[in-house]
Amino acid sequence: MTRPRKLFVKSYGCQMNVYDSHRMADTLAPEGFVETTTADDADLVILNTCHIREKAAEKVYSELGRLRLLKNSARTQGRKLTIAVAGCVAQAEGEEILRRAPMVDLVFGPQSYHRLPDLLARAERDGRAIDTEFPAETKFDFLPAAAGDKVRARGVTAFVTIQEGCDKFCTFCVVPYTRGAESARPVARIVAEVERLAACGVREVTLIGQNVNAFHGEDIDGSTCPLGRLLRRLAEISGIARLRYTTSHPRDIDGDLIETHRDLNALMPQLHLPVQSGSDRILKAMNRRHTADDYRRVIERLRRAQPALAVTSDFIVGFPGETDADFEATLRLIEDVGFMTAFSFKYSPRPGTPASELADQVPESVKSERLQQLQALILRQNARFQRDCLGRLFDVLFEKPGRHAGQIVGRSPYLQPVQVLGPETLIGEIRPVRITDAGPNSLFGVVCAPPHERQHDTACLAATGA
Ligand code: SAH
Ligand code: SF4
Ligand code: F3S
Repeated sequence: MTRPRKLFVKSYGCQMNVYDSHRMADTLAPEGFVETTTADDADLVILNTCHIREKAAEKVYSELGRLRLLKNSARTQGRKLTIAVAGCVAQAEGEEILRRAPMVDLVFGPQSYHRLPDLLARAERDGRAIDTEFPAETKFDFLPAAAGDKVRARGVTAFVTIQEGCDKFCTFCVVPYTRGAESARPVARIVAEVERLAACGVREVTLIGQNVNAFHGEDIDGSTCPLGRLLRRLAEISGIARLRYTTSHPRDIDGDLIETHRDLNALMPQLHLPVQSGSDRILKAMNRRHTADDYRRVIERLRRAQPALAVTSDFIVGFPGETDADFEATLRLIEDVGFMTAFSFKYSPRPGTPASELADQVPESVKSERLQQLQALILRQNARFQRDCLGRLFDVLFEKPGRHAGQIVGRSPYLQPVQVLGPETLIGEIRPVRITDAGPNSLFGVVCAPPHERQHDTACLAATGA
């Protein structure tokens, strides 16, 4: 029997890349590849890359520099290290990677993962291989499911891609070019995947897509299924206790989805809804096709339906032509909406996108200043949110042992890590936890008996945090 080959996949960028990296490992498992946690002893290293901002793309080349040394030292030991670049940088600048980085054997884009065994064979035969086509077939029809032990090793929460690609063409964004046109997976396949995950112990599923609420998958009866209906269907699967979805676009939040937030207990009361800017002029230049007030209104409707809802968002500062007044409009929107937290970025001109060609680019120093100001405001809102959690009773899904003996860590409905003292047998279980302490990144609390067993708060099992 041949020695199993070792595979190391490193993911950059969004959650879809994390999901894709798992699928690549699952595709290569029948080929005799086992996963390892470092590049040092690997036979095949795949960098699953992100092209969203310049910094993200640059990381690939610095990582490739390190891998070149590793490849050379493997060669002196008589071993071959195959280096592959996958993901959005591969899609956007595949040929350039091959030119700039002679140690790379294989380059392939996000729509080619199912062809990975063939590509490896081609690289073996021809020296190098590249595949950045958008094939007519969908990779999802070919990707094998993960083995049960692998699903279990990955934990009690899982991502599931339900939609990929984007037709929105925001003027700053590379995603429509790297991931291609929007396409939705059929409902039957999504249901089958979630049923399988549930059978392997997964309790929480996050549905992912670049534009996840634009989902319109083909239902089992041939009709078109919107996201709300899909969520209600998945909530019926035995074992699935929690659902989330990300990332959404404000234009695609429909009435049905809002009602799902009102009615479906399994849908967690946290929503990531990127807005990018609070200035109508900038939103228009970004081709977001909604105004700041449209965003305020949609949040208002969601909160009326689900008063416990916490909202997170993404912001870009220093988009071309952004004035002080535009930036102040963004700060006003943040004040008005009140976010649990947010990601914020300096605008990064991306090759091939319309905004990169605009004349009035904002100086770096102005971008830095605005970013700092915006982040300070978000930090204050986040600190308030964390403080407001004190004393509250949250259902926590326990995920793994903590760093200290006797400690376990789970997630609140708002995705905050929650640390308690408790037995590892609680991993995979959901328990009410009284929050006793709140740090900037974590909550601490005590596990309480389930509500029907609970007389009053002294029924707690263990104490920690203070
Ligand atoms: N589909 C999501 C966003 C995906 S990209 C949406 O519609 O909002 C994730 C985030 O990266 C974006 O929300 C945006 O804030 C940021 N981003 C995208 N392109 C960028 C660029 N060129 N410069 C800076 N930030 C960018
Ligand atoms: Fe990019 Fe806009 Fe599509 Fe989001 S909606 S992926 S920001 S083009
Ligand atoms: Fe990056 Fe591609 Fe995701 S550019 S954010 S890895 S879709």
